Amino acid sequence: MAETAVASAPVPDAAATGRPSKTLAAKEPCAVVIFGASGDLTRRKLLPALYNLHREKLLPEHFYVVGFSRTDLNDDSFRVHAKDAVVEFSRTGAPEDGLWNSFAEKMRYLPSHYDSPAAYRALADLLKELNQNGTCPNRIFYLATSPSLYETIIKHLGEAGLSGPLFPGGGWARIVVEKPFGHDVESAQTLNREVTSVFRETDVYRIDHYLGKETVQNLLVFRFANGIFEPIWNRNYVDHVQITVSETLGVGSRGAFYEEAGALRDVVQNHMLQLLCLTAMEPPVSFDERSVRNEKTKVLQAVRPIPPDDVDAFAVRGQYAEGFVAGQKTKGYRQEPGVAPDSGTETYAAMKFLIENWRWAGVPFYLRTGKAMSKRATEIVIQFKKPPHLLFERVRGSIPEPNVLVIRIQPDEAILLRFGAKIPGPAMKIGPVDMDFRYGESFGGQTAEAYERLLLDCLNGDPTLYARGDWVELSWSLLQPVLDNWSSTTPMRFPSYDAGSWGPAEADSLLAADGRVWRRA
Ligand code: BG6
Repeated sequence: MAETAVASAPVPDAAATGRPSKTLAAKEPCAVVIFGASGDLTRRKLLPALYNLHREKLLPEHFYVVGFSRTDLNDDSFRVHAKDAVVEFSRTGAPEDGLWNSFAEKMRYLPSHYDSPAAYRALADLLKELNQNGTCPNRIFYLATSPSLYETIIKHLGEAGLSGPLFPGGGWARIVVEKPFGHDVESAQTLNREVTSVFRETDVYRIDHYLGKETVQNLLVFRFANGIFEPIWNRNYVDHVQITVSETLGVGSRGAFYEEAGALRDVVQNHMLQLLCLTAMEPPVSFDERSVRNEKTKVLQAVRPIPPDDVDAFAVRGQYAEGFVAGQKTKGYRQEPGVAPDSGTETYAAMKFLIENWRWAGVPFYLRTGKAMSKRATEIVIQFKKPPHLLFERVRGSIPEPNVLVIRIQPDEAILLRFGAKIPGPAMKIGPVDMDFRYGESFGGQTAEAYERLLLDCLNGDPTLYARGDWVELSWSLLQPVLDNWSSTTPMRFPSYDAGSWGPAEADSLLAADGRVWRRA
């Protein structure tokens, strides 16, 4: 981990662009149909991501974006809407005219109701028109609407024959489903049944934008492309693992949505369990979708189920009161628009998971996430066991801190290894120091947004970085005892932490019960 060695090593082209060589420019023609085309996700993420793929010449020659939503727009006004979105949200800023025009000419718009069979016939006609002379027979349907519309859209796509061979000679159809994928085990199973009754499982892309983050993918490279970490990545050396997703923002304008979700559904079930799986999984036999996703599923299969009568020993919830975040006065959750004044929704969740397999027996994985916290940080901390014999313990002030490896996903993407070093001077005093690799310093430049990578993978037919149906159902089943307990009991003390703090005292007690403390990120 010598930082200088990493920084000065020649960087191959693929790494310089921030893309593993597995992902290549999409070659097969495709029309991407976005349901919910005038919505927030499309504006903030999808249109800027598609534009940037175009800008980097990663899209196929025959490519279209078809917007589908209830808003009364036409092709031209959709293009104006899209340009505004790109100007406001693209990582590359306002587009150049030439580049923009060549992208805009690929855009079409259908103002329609989601439950109108005629709308799907009109969509089929449009796709036929775009497939002139067989140049664009393939389709991706992107569900960027409210999840309450998923069932309707999927059903109509099936009935209109849009998921099958629409054209003589074939063409493929894939569907991207945004989170939340269900809200509990049963609804996730139902949604899986519905979507796989119309599309094949391998054509269903359940998106989790965390998997598209460069630093999350780097976790796999760190573990499996280096020989020195894997031998110590187990119960013999690791004391415990902490995974943190803390955000400084409150729920803001998303109060009504958040009231139905809460931290467990919003972040733990998807992003955090994905991070847990990538940290804990066995080396896959190869980096193909089946091997990687099998290994991730095996991790969830090995997690000890949380006993319904002992939920408090494994899970803690909290809700923010007003406070100060970075010196700014911040409202309490119950004062946010769209939130009930006596809301019982959690804005903080901490959990302890035990993975009962050969590698991880006895090593707890602690997860925590919260809104309106002291600091924005997403990180995975591997805390190693103490040395077997503390040679220096008797000298005052010299008890070494445990070695920790911090994989910081965001912000300031980095990997730090903390160890003890002798503080210069006559006494044998030990102080913690960090070996420090920083993504930005070593590779420079701006990396692609998660949505760019994931959309490109979908165009290329590679679902490795998407969630598989069985994984999603398992993840919900692990949380179900907690969801049931929390929905049937009133939180003892809500709100329970000040905005700008590190969360409720109960979360500290969760670790204290095991003789451990949370790292202050
Ligand atoms: C989303 C959640 O999935 O992830 C949000 O709905 C959360 O509540 C966001 O803020 C966090 O993503 P990121 O990329 O900002 O860490």
